[in-house]
Amino acid sequence: MQTKGHSRNFIYTDWILIETQFDPDQLHSKETVFTIGNGYLGTKGSFEEGYPHALPATFIHGVYDDVPVVYTELANCPDWLPLVVIVNGESPLETLRERFRLDQGKILRYDRQLDLRYGLLSRYLRWRSPSGKTIDINFERFASFADQHVLVQRCHLTPVDFDGVIEVQGSINGYPENQGFNHWEGLDQGKTDQGIWLQRRTRHSRIELGMGATMRISGTEASLQVSTAPGYPTLSMTYLAKSKQTVTVEKIVTVFTSRETETPVSAATEKLAHLPDYATLLKANEQAWDEVWQQSDILIEGDSTAAFAVRYNLFQLLIAGSRHDDKVSIPAKTLSGFGYRGHIFWDTEIFMLPFFLFTQSAIARNLLSYRWHTLPGARRKASHYGYKGAMFAWESADTGDEVTPRWALGNDFYGEDVRIWCRDREIHINADIPYAAWNYWQATGDDEWMQQRGAEIILDAAIFWGSRVEFNSERQQYEIRGVIGVDEYHEFVHNNAFTNRMAQWHLEKAIAVYDWLAQKFPERATELEEKLKLTPQERSHWQDIIAKILFLHEPLTELIEQFEGFFQLEDINLADYQGRDRSMQAILGIEKTNKYQVIKQPDILMLLYLMRESADFPYNEKALQTNWDYYAPRTDITYGSSLGPAVHAILASDLGKSSEAYEVFMQALMVDLEDNRGNTSDGIHGATAGGVWQAVIFGFGGIQLTENGPVANSHLPDGWTRLKFKLHWRGKWHDFDLRKGQVAQDITRQLEYLHLSLSPNPPNFPSEASEHQTSPPASPASPAPSSPSSPHSPIPNP
Ligand code: BGC
Repeated sequence: MQTKGHSRNFIYTDWILIETQFDPDQLHSKETVFTIGNGYLGTKGSFEEGYPHALPATFIHGVYDDVPVVYTELANCPDWLPLVVIVNGESPLETLRERFRLDQGKILRYDRQLDLRYGLLSRYLRWRSPSGKTIDINFERFASFADQHVLVQRCHLTPVDFDGVIEVQGSINGYPENQGFNHWEGLDQGKTDQGIWLQRRTRHSRIELGMGATMRISGTEASLQVSTAPGYPTLSMTYLAKSKQTVTVEKIVTVFTSRETETPVSAATEKLAHLPDYATLLKANEQAWDEVWQQSDILIEGDSTAAFAVRYNLFQLLIAGSRHDDKVSIPAKTLSGFGYRGHIFWDTEIFMLPFFLFTQSAIARNLLSYRWHTLPGARRKASHYGYKGAMFAWESADTGDEVTPRWALGNDFYGEDVRIWCRDREIHINADIPYAAWNYWQATGDDEWMQQRGAEIILDAAIFWGSRVEFNSERQQYEIRGVIGVDEYHEFVHNNAFTNRMAQWHLEKAIAVYDWLAQKFPERATELEEKLKLTPQERSHWQDIIAKILFLHEPLTELIEQFEGFFQLEDINLADYQGRDRSMQAILGIEKTNKYQVIKQPDILMLLYLMRESADFPYNEKALQTNWDYYAPRTDITYGSSLGPAVHAILASDLGKSSEAYEVFMQALMVDLEDNRGNTSDGIHGATAGGVWQAVIFGFGGIQLTENGPVANSHLPDGWTRLKFKLHWRGKWHDFDLRKGQVAQDITRQLEYLHLSLSPNPPNFPSEASEHQTSPPASPASPAPSSPSSPHSPIPNP
């Protein structure tokens, strides 16, 4: 195999991640890095044979269960991986039984590979047992992309220097744990003709799970034995191995839960009974992946690290996005770790969703439908806090009720617990979700979804803002007080520019959607008016808010104040803290950080980024330059939030700061591959992966979405000679093949998009999308005029 390059922790080819040495100190982070999945479940890269302190985990979308303090979490599901190899002496009667394990004996060869193209995880090992028997073992596994209920393992065994008895045991471990907590109670287990099955149920949410497994052997004769140790059914095969002769064992597992069928066990055993052989399963899996990569791949030439690592990040998104279930969404740590307990944040809509929207729009639709299904929870939250409409949870799980823990443990034994205020105050998510829903509609023209689901999300969340704003009669302006903005280093602030402008933007779109609905789907409009108690007064209230919401903006310089009083806080020079390895909040403490002009992640710059595409207020080139100059040096970009670097990369790229853009881009790109924040063991940074896609497409590719389709104004980083990708936009595929030095768009061909049913004339869309675009990129639309000179001026009505 031709390797393409290496980084601190790994080597790679175009598609394959290779680890050539096992380092027990990196056990947990590598379990995350080698996660596989298929949009239904994710399984960490733990070893088949186990390892002391390993944390194997399989998370199935939507399988949440109650837990103290954090309310609910994704339950670690029964472990389908155990595949144990025991090397015996020359006769079955010999008592020396040596179980293959990496913490004993000698590792003579070690090679773990993740093939991103087909989601295959394999290991090639040469191991010498403590008594001196040498054996080659090659494991392979995948979670089928062709059939999400099928999980496949294979193991080649070749004794190098001995003949003897080998036993292979394949099990299902019904005792998985979430950091010491077991969510499952046993219901039943049993055996079939060729296999075993296990039936478990979560203790509180009472989700039933059925798992079946079978094992086959080729290259020798061996009979199958079944042992049904409670909660740990096991299949075993014993055979007489000959030196240098390879025997192959296949273990196939099926899994269903009561979220998909009333009878998970019979669904699992039924499927198991009718499965084809390994080669056929592998082929189907490969075909399914081929289709997906055909649409979602990004090809980069001239920078092999970026070329591989971008694919790695896309792979992690692809295995996390649910393709068949619209009642689930992607947790912040995807399905790859215990971090954030499988809770869902704005990370999904703002960071991950664009990748799906432009390359796998059916998944984007599922992700947004999840929010529609969780509206009842969002309504309960609003009413709990005394507001109207829908108030989306900062951290959401199965019902949409708020599941952000109220308290976190402090760092020292005698310290106080820390109150987490995001649940009460980080309300910008209420505009972020509508922002994503609106963009989905704009990009797809999916009127059906908008009238059925999107409109309800946008309108009910708008009603919340109507009740959340306060009118300040002295100022004659609306305010939003007592919030946490995107920058979580400041916890109780008034008139955070991001929150106020996003709320205003949201209300503008809510009116547009309301009017569109009334015109195109009057019955649905009436239905929603009744259901949401939407009145003409409410609509004019929204208009009033749009006109009079406070926005702290200096029109002459375009400098925006992050929140009221930010400029009065003590300034800080982050260069004075060079060489640190922790966030500023970890260094200064929560209280003190609140008092400084140091921010955790882009907030004003995030706002400019979100408004950049449509060149909406306050985005303009001068605003970008001014606010970058002010805020970038005050942002804790390397140690604050992992969501920051990709956003900085895009804006720095816009500003022509090419090397700075590339430097922060690499921080985002390598966050998990190099574990550069030290927390990859908690799971993949899903938002960062989504940010990487946006940085490549919108930053380096310079994609702008015009009425005539996407156009590129690329700024490829040094070394990149080619950047090739596809975007789906308003019913057509647009191919980009950008070479260094090209300025205009380079659309090589466009394909009809056959899978989406589009209305002939979606609102505001050109009646026909052009086949080939030749015009140069549109210059950014003129920004809305700035309002008169007050430093605390309201946003003009764009
Ligand atoms: C960030 C949030 C993010 C959350 C989950 C926090 O550290 O500040 O913006 O939503 O992590 O990734």
